[in-house]
Amino acid sequence: MHHSWISGIGSAHPKGIVTNEELAKKIAQHGAETNDQWIRERTGICERRISSLKEDERNSSLGLRASLEAMEMANIQPQDIDLILYATCSPDTLVPSTACWLQKKLGALQAGALDLNAACSGFVYGLHLADQMIKTGAHKTILVIGGEVLSPYLNWGDRTSSILFGDGAGAAVVQRTHSDQSSRLFSTHVGSDGNLWDLFYIPAGGSNQEVTPEVYERQEHKMKMKGREIFKVACNTLATYAKKAIESNEFSVEDVDWIVPHQANLRIIENVAKKLNVPMDKVIVNVDRFGNTSAATVPTAFAEAVKTGKIKRGDLVLFDVFGAGLTYGSALLRW
Ligand code: UT7
Repeated sequence: MHHSWISGIGSAHPKGIVTNEELAKKIAQHGAETNDQWIRERTGICERRISSLKEDERNSSLGLRASLEAMEMANIQPQDIDLILYATCSPDTLVPSTACWLQKKLGALQAGALDLNAACSGFVYGLHLADQMIKTGAHKTILVIGGEVLSPYLNWGDRTSSILFGDGAGAAVVQRTHSDQSSRLFSTHVGSDGNLWDLFYIPAGGSNQEVTPEVYERQEHKMKMKGREIFKVACNTLATYAKKAIESNEFSVEDVDWIVPHQANLRIIENVAKKLNVPMDKVIVNVDRFGNTSAATVPTAFAEAVKTGKIKRGDLVLFDVFGAGLTYGSALLRW
């Protein structure tokens, strides 16, 4: 049986920075009230990047920039890619897939291309699928992207959800390992509980409800979230899936060099670190500068930590995620 490894990683964000103060003004224009202090204290977020929605900042365009960076690190060409898995819940278009838009932009014409939607857990779900496909020998070089432009789905009049999100994309090249190399993916675990669908959803725009003028008026084509309930489930499932990853590979928590958790709220991250008894200096955080970029949080935070030299080849790294669905997952790898 083959094993897989991540041979390259990259990230991209829109240029436009929106500070908490600027966001508070926008939210006020939509009839709600918030402020920098509340957002910082309750979420750890100071600013986020919001897409201009122009061609160079569409989801697949951010995915393109992240992919080119990952491919350069992996030293591969577009024609080497045999599958593109694009994890997103905010596609460029419903049809065709964002993966196909990216394939066109990359010129990776040998590759199969598809989107997968596991919301914020999507990148780990993508790694899960890529790892299995490499193990069976079906594919050799897979591009896995976690990318989102969720800003058009935010209801700016809803201060509990609109303060949290930002746009961005991260990409990983997943390949078959060479013999005798230590860098490899040890395991991936995924789970979900569809009974918790109403903690985070977009009511209209699918076959449940088309967008009529009345629906539009009620902003039901925008995100709805029960933040407090998600918070509790997230802390528990992140701890559970971190332990699953570590224990199933017979490592101990102390063996893990870095945890890269989903970046939704700094308080969730700190709560999970405490539950796992891991000091915060082993936890990668970028939510302060980018907010919650959904499927993009883990690959962008990881790519940034690799690029700045914090995470080094040979380090044991744990990815730990949760998202709408609800969905959960973790992955353990030797970078
Ligand atoms: O990728 C997954 C997506 N979602 C999540 O991960 C969300 C997880 N949940 C959270 O991050 C937090 O629950 C929130 C940041 C959404 C909310 O923080 P919280 O500490 O759970 O606040 P809360 O909902 O319990 O609200 C506390 C108070 C309330 O006022 P009262 O009832 O105590 O007077 C809210 O009305 O804070 C008020 N509030 C705000 N005040 C100023 C809620 N949002 C805001 C706001 N600015 N933006």
